[in-house]
Amino acid sequence: MVLIKAPKSWEISENLVTPEHIFFNRRKFFKRLGVLGIGAGILGCIDKNGKQVNAETIKTLIKTPSSELFPKPQNTKFVLDRPLTDEKIAATYNNFYEFTTDKEKVWELAKNLKTRPWTVEVSGEIRKGGTFGIDDLMKKLPMEERLYRHRCVEAWAMAVPWTGIPMSEFLKMVEPTEKAKFLKFTGFFKPLEAEGQKNQPWYTWPYYEGMQIEEANNPLTLLATGIYGKELPPQHGSPIRIVTPWKYGFKSIKSITKIEFVEKQPQTFWNDLAPEEYDFLANVNPKIPHPRWSQETEKMLGTDEKRETLLFNGYEEFVKHLYN
Ligand code: MTE
Repeated sequence: MVLIKAPKSWEISENLVTPEHIFFNRRKFFKRLGVLGIGAGILGCIDKNGKQVNAETIKTLIKTPSSELFPKPQNTKFVLDRPLTDEKIAATYNNFYEFTTDKEKVWELAKNLKTRPWTVEVSGEIRKGGTFGIDDLMKKLPMEERLYRHRCVEAWAMAVPWTGIPMSEFLKMVEPTEKAKFLKFTGFFKPLEAEGQKNQPWYTWPYYEGMQIEEANNPLTLLATGIYGKELPPQHGSPIRIVTPWKYGFKSIKSITKIEFVEKQPQTFWNDLAPEEYDFLANVNPKIPHPRWSQETEKMLGTDEKRETLLFNGYEEFVKHLYN
């Protein structure tokens, strides 16, 4: 992306693996104390490694009203051609500029994001708009697990089990009018919780993205709420994000607060910042190089396996008809 140091490697560094182990040891520790789920009330204590642990440290482990909804049955229609990426690797190498441009630091900073209460305001060319509480949405609409490839424009890739609401189900609920041709998504603006928003004022916060209504209705499109059989942790875009696996990852906006149905193609964050590098459609295409990254191949997170990039990230049969 723009203004980012080139990634050194797709291997996770040792200094990140260690805190992650500590993190999981903490989980056991708190479980033994029987405080998992009410951690928010704890001001601070010492973990078995002698480190200060406070409510923020274990934030991602705190239960929400929707925790019990996970895991969901897998829809076996969507199959992978490669092994799943290790959960910890996917959770510690993230793009979430609201926190930092340093991919290996996002997971730690994103713990500051308060994801309850959380509402999504839905408006524009629809018959049944409103402001929906995230837990009501998750209860009301069907959710399922899907194994998808994910391809970042920076030429790294992963394969992960998302859980989410098929976007087509969401559209049925809000009933778009005939005038609705595009969807515009908006992220959050919380500079007190997301230090990247405070420290990088040159970005046009909040993050915003868009897609065509036919793309939203495509069976592949998910409003993702979970990953690896659990609720999304903050670094992956809790509590709700887009997943469109045939597009480059920057289209899959995280932590959505607003969805507007509009007649005209909306502006998008990266396209406004660098139109020559990021187009609106951003469909994965190995034949169209990005000015800084050839798109012919990709490297899998964690294993460094190099693979040929597939047209539409291998989802041609599902989406080709959209672009005739
Ligand atoms: N959404 C927001 N709000 N902010 C971001 O910086 N980065 C995008 C996308 N969604 C981004 C975002 C990019 S470039 C990618 S590749 C994916 O999130 C990464 O998703 P992951 O960290 O869950 O792997």
